[in-house]
Amino acid sequence: MKQYETEVLVIGSGIAGLFYSIHCAQFARVTIITKGTIGESNTMYAQGGIAAVFDMADSIENHIRDTLVAGDDLCNEEAVHQIVQNARRVILELDALRVDFDKRLSGSFDLHREGGHSHARVVHSTDATGKEVETALVKQVRAIPNITILEGCFAIDLCVNDNTCTGAIAIEKSALEALQIHAKVVMLASGGAGQVYEMNTNPSIATGDGFAMAHRAGAVISNMEFVQFHPTTLYGPSNPVFLITEALRGFGAELKNENGETFMEKYHPLKSLAPRDVVSRAIVNEMEKRNVPCVYLDVTGFNKTEIQTHFPTIYSRCKDAGIDIVRTMIPVVPAAHYMCGGVVTDLNGRTSIGNLYACGEVSCTGVHGANRLASNSLLEGLVFAENAAVDTKSRLESNSHLLHPLYFVALDLEEDVNLAYIKSYLQQLMWRFAGIVRNGTELNYCHDELKQLHQKLSSKISLYGNSVASNELLNLIETSLMIVRGSLLREESRGCQYRTDFPLKSDLLTFQDISEHLSLSA
Ligand code: FAD
Ligand code: SIN
Repeated sequence: MKQYETEVLVIGSGIAGLFYSIHCAQFARVTIITKGTIGESNTMYAQGGIAAVFDMADSIENHIRDTLVAGDDLCNEEAVHQIVQNARRVILELDALRVDFDKRLSGSFDLHREGGHSHARVVHSTDATGKEVETALVKQVRAIPNITILEGCFAIDLCVNDNTCTGAIAIEKSALEALQIHAKVVMLASGGAGQVYEMNTNPSIATGDGFAMAHRAGAVISNMEFVQFHPTTLYGPSNPVFLITEALRGFGAELKNENGETFMEKYHPLKSLAPRDVVSRAIVNEMEKRNVPCVYLDVTGFNKTEIQTHFPTIYSRCKDAGIDIVRTMIPVVPAAHYMCGGVVTDLNGRTSIGNLYACGEVSCTGVHGANRLASNSLLEGLVFAENAAVDTKSRLESNSHLLHPLYFVALDLEEDVNLAYIKSYLQQLMWRFAGIVRNGTELNYCHDELKQLHQKLSSKISLYGNSVASNELLNLIETSLMIVRGSLLREESRGCQYRTDFPLKSDLLTFQDISEHLSLSA
């Protein structure tokens, strides 16, 4: 196997991995590996923006309260304080890195409002904030000599010895052998797992690799049952589905049924701007009750120039789909969007495995609790990437002894068409039985099916070796198993988890983390 050495290995090139790399490059040699091209990430598709208190009428206390309310009594308050108190600073840092946020004539940030927020506090770059941030950060890392970028380099497993991470095994595109990367410190910044579900907003790279790798390595993982479904994605056949940002509702768009009647007043005092879990369930309820395939978002009659200025991506994407949104209501449905749980970390990004950090969507810092407040994800990635970089510096200074056991990994170089079929079956299974509304019987059925799929695929891999496609599928199945097991363990309804057989919140379960660290064979 090919060998490679670096001081800091970063797996993933979204906001968390890039921001961490920029900070670590000030004191260490950094290598970023990323499975596609460097910009391809969930970050790239972020629309709404980044939450921070810049409005004089707003306050840190308000942002903290909104985050805790959305998290449904399961947030780690210390972690919430960390991101909210540091929000202005990291945004100003991005501003200094030439991220082109929308500003008013006065020079202050233009602020949008989103669901669950009591004030307008979302700093944005029209409705394509992620693209702007990702592009600026990529430009930065490309210009730093201390950073090496390996694109098309897929991490298949972490190397762990005596509960200490010493690097990772990866497959390079079209290489005939695997690559063992030795590192003093590894940062897992591999993003989310939206592709577990048939209907989701995530790009195809979001296959839960980090959750599964960390799980196989023995890291503590928690809160996987809290999958956030975004209420408003464009109705129609596509994977991923196109997001219609919540900021459009913050701008005045209202949810309506096919007769043009509002319905959210029946579900929450904040109506169309209620927290996401509430809105998603309300939409599903309306669709089932009325036996219709979607509901509508109404901006008809709004000023066309204003809509085109604030939401150019949405305006033109809908136009391409034949919808002029200032004349016709937008058909929308909920879709899987974000993983609130993940690899458990402390406030410095440390996981339960020595020398292994996690940051961004793959991590569970406790900020989001049972349901994430809109636009707190990019923020979390920035703040904890910086904390982790500071911690990495001190760890590198004291990290004198390195263990470098050698690994062997066989590669399967054949393309297997069955994998696509199994993936599609898995996505339908999860959508149908572990989606927005769940119950124990269906979750148990889903669990048994997943275990069978896991067994079949594991035997295939041990017979023929690893490929990127087989590994991604294995990771999707293992992530699904964690979601379903977490959901079965949590016999209550809270935040993103709604179980018809346990429709109420349970006081017995109000501890911070149900640690989902069951072995896969359990
Ligand atoms: P990502 O940005 O997903 O990056 C993960 C990286 O890891 C990618 O480069 C990927 O290729 C790489 N990777 C994964 N597995 C491997 C592997 N095995 N080997 C090598 N590389 C690997 N949040 C907000 O706060 N505000 C918003 O407005 C917002 N809008 C959103 C809109 C959409 C459509 C989506 C999908 C998400 C949105 N989110 C938003 C959520 C937010 O974008 C993500 O949670 C955040 O960008 C995650 O950043 P990350 O760095 O953790 O992961
Ligand atoms: C959106 O723009 O609606 C997505 C925001 C988020 O996921 O935080």
